[in-house]
This record gives sequence, C-alpha cells and structure tokens, in this order.
Amino acid sequence: MFISFEGTEGVGKTTLIRKLHDYYIEQGKEVVLTREPGGTPLAEQIRSLLLSVNHDEKMNSDTELLLMYAARAQHLQQVIMPALNAGKIVLCDRFVDSSYAYQCAGRGLSKQKLKLLNEHFVEKMPDVTFWLDAPIELGMNRARERGALDRFEQEKVSFFEKVRSGFAEIYRIEPDRMRRLDATQTPEKVFEDALGCLK
Ligand code: TYD
Repeated sequence: MFISFEGTEGVGKTTLIRKLHDYYIEQGKEVVLTREPGGTPLAEQIRSLLLSVNHDEKMNSDTELLLMYAARAQHLQQVIMPALNAGKIVLCDRFVDSSYAYQCAGRGLSKQKLKLLNEHFVEKMPDVTFWLDAPIELGMNRARERGALDRFEQEKVSFFEKVRSGFAEIYRIEPDRMRRLDATQTPEKVFEDALGCLK
C-alpha cells in the first residue's frame, strides 16, 4: 500500500501522516514514513538546494522540475520500491502530484514535460492520495508561525491559488485515487475522514 499526502503549505499534512503512522503501528503493520523532495541522504541534499533561499541566481523552473525528479528517482529506487516489495505500507509526504501542482499549474511548465518524466522515471503511482484542501490564507498563516520561510513559502498568494487549482484538476480527473479532505476541520476529524476512505 502506497499512500501520498498533498496540499498547499500549512494544511496539516504532517499531523495526519503521524496519526496514520501511529494507527498502523498499533495494528502491528510495518510502515515507512518518508517525504519528497527528500527521503534519502542524497535526495535530502537535493531538497536543501531546492528550498534554499540563498541562491545568487534565480533557479529556473526547468531546473526546479529536474531536481525534483532527480530526488524522486533516488527516493523511489532506494526507499519506496524496496519497502513496497517487502510488503510494507509507505506513507509519503508529497509525490508526483506536487510536481503537477507546483511546477505545471504554479510555475506554468507544460504537462508534456511532466508526462515524459513520469513515463520514464515513475514506476509506481500511489494507491491512494490524500489532498488536504484549505483556503490559502489559512495555511500561509500556519507556515508563517513556523518561522523562517523557505523558497516556496516566500511565493505570493496568487502562486498558491494556482497550485491549489492544480490539485483540484487532478482530483477532477482521478477521483478514485485522489481523495479530498477538508483541512479546515480539526486534526481529529481530518484523520477520521482519511480512515473512512481507507476502509
Ligand atoms: P514540504 O516540506 O512538504 O513543504 P510544507 O511542509 O511547507 O508543505 O515540501 C517542500 C516544498 O517543495 C513545498 O513547498 C512544495 C515543493 N514541491 C514541489 O514544488 N514539487 C514537488 O514535486 C514536490 C515533491 C515538492
């Protein structure tokens, strides 16, 4: 079972993932909790490059997309596929839908580029994807409360509105895989709704 978690900044992905992780552990299941970009030492180094605001030059959108996929290729081969092949449950904080929402819908890159990368480098799509959806302002306030903002979090509200509509588009096209959760609810209710989708 491969489950990914998506959404704009500060919608409570981490809280939900931890709750689901604890739930599966209590049931005696083997669970791997991981994230993108990142999830292996090398992929985490790529993550630092991607999130760092200390660039002397602006990172162009193609570079951003390719770095996301460089990290993803490493993560899939080192962590996700071995865990799934061993029968473990994989909970992944963000996956390919973030690339669609941020790099295509947000930055304006073509869907063709993403399709090509997915065809060649993504051998396994999640069985279920939870999209935690909430108004942008709500999440941005939470992100600001957490402290220094990374390169993505420094983007304008209009960017995140595009990202949100990118997730909405995937949800329209793939309602069986992508489940929308109302992230304005309490963490307990969000967890309850997620469990309802998994049963
Ligand atoms: P994350 O740490 O999950 O951010 P947050 O905790 O604020 O939700 O992810 C880091 C950032 O990387 C996030 O702003 C979204 C971005 N991202 C992409 O733009 N494309 C991708 O393919 C992935 C996986 C993440």
